[in-house]
Amino acid sequence: MKRKEQFVAKTFAGLETILKEELETLGAENCQLSKRAVTFEGDFDLLYKTNYYSRFALRILWQVHQFDFRDNKQFYENIYKYPAENVLDEKGKLAISVTMHNTIFQTPLFAAQLAKDAICDRFRERTDTRPSVDKEHPDVQFHLHLNENMATLFLDASGDSLHKRGYRVSIHPAQINEVLAAGIIKLSGWKHDCDFIDPMCGSGTILIEAAMQALNIPAGFYRKYFGFYTWKNFDRRLWNKITAEADIHDDVPVDFYGYDISPRFIGMAQANVRAARLADFIHLQSRSMFEVSVKNTPSCILFNPPYGERLDMEDISDFYKNIGDALKQHFAGCKAFIISSNMEGIKNIGLHPSRKYPLFNGPLECKFLRYDLYAGTKKNTAVRQTYGLDEKNVKKNDGIKR
Ligand SMILES: C[S@@+](CC[C@H](N)C(=O)[O-])C[C@H]1O[C@@H](n2cnc3c(N)ncnc32)[C@H](O)[C@@H]1O
Repeated sequence: MKRKEQFVAKTFAGLETILKEELETLGAENCQLSKRAVTFEGDFDLLYKTNYYSRFALRILWQVHQFDFRDNKQFYENIYKYPAENVLDEKGKLAISVTMHNTIFQTPLFAAQLAKDAICDRFRERTDTRPSVDKEHPDVQFHLHLNENMATLFLDASGDSLHKRGYRVSIHPAQINEVLAAGIIKLSGWKHDCDFIDPMCGSGTILIEAAMQALNIPAGFYRKYFGFYTWKNFDRRLWNKITAEADIHDDVPVDFYGYDISPRFIGMAQANVRAARLADFIHLQSRSMFEVSVKNTPSCILFNPPYGERLDMEDISDFYKNIGDALKQHFAGCKAFIISSNMEGIKNIGLHPSRKYPLFNGPLECKFLRYDLYAGTKKNTAVRQTYGLDEKNVKKNDGIKR
């Protein structure tokens, strides 16, 4: 029987539950929710699988060692016991990051140095040579988590954060994080069964993530590098087998539309869409959201308007009010989803959200809101359908706050 390994997947606050479900689908066992993370168990294969397929994880850590310690000596001796030579070459490069809570150490730096000494001394005593430290481009990135007297040593299997999907060739000043974009698409409940519109698409992140989900393109498909590529025990055959199992669809029966008022940002979106080889699916145009209408009803509208933090908005309140009006007038019959950290702006949308999810975009606290856009109201639509009434005879109750 294969040994069960212990892993941790990190994510944004608010995405833990969908990450847990995703990991379970990938075969993870004993998944436990934690703060901005999910812990799970499984075969070693799962380390490669989750790195390649997880859309909602920012990073996957492999727990390789755990021990209790009372003083520096015990700490050093226990780290020394870890057979780092299984993953790191004696001439390789390592880096150690530390998070700690209530420990004997004054600073994380001191703990990292002591751990580095223990690992390097073990090499030197065996081979007369030792690895070097390279914080920028390590072959093995260790992570030490110290909680009171308990130390847990992890290997960071992802290297760069998994939000770096590999399709971004153009950087927008207010781009949404790819993991967060994938997460809100999942939370929206869109089942790839109607058109998808981002009316303020910037560099196209949300559209690309939506098309990747609909076409079943793995989140790591475009990435050129994962942390474990430079581990000594990297199993290229296993990796090739896991990545070859991807079941990418050739086509989807829906279209993706993106608009942005800025031709420059549409240029960026075009470059990213081309890099993701999704230009056959995603249609982009430089237009104001206030001038466009839905092509096919129902469609799923999902976007992050300017928060007013990084973009210069003259009057954010009016701007958000215009968004509410445009949704009501040009996107009736659709579901719209907005993520924003501008709470004042959100109030001015003037529509009643049918659902609210608290989320974080990096350090920014956000709300993700769902609006069901009925022509008239849900109630009135039913009344009109039943009695054949025309709109002027029906009491005004169209979801707009007056
Ligand atoms: C927060 S950014 C969107 C970033 C995008 N999600 C990405 O990942 O790149 C908001 C975008 O709204 C665009 N915008 C502002 N006013 C607009 C309008 N009236 N119609 C369409 N786009 C607009 C801005 O040009 C900006 O690119």
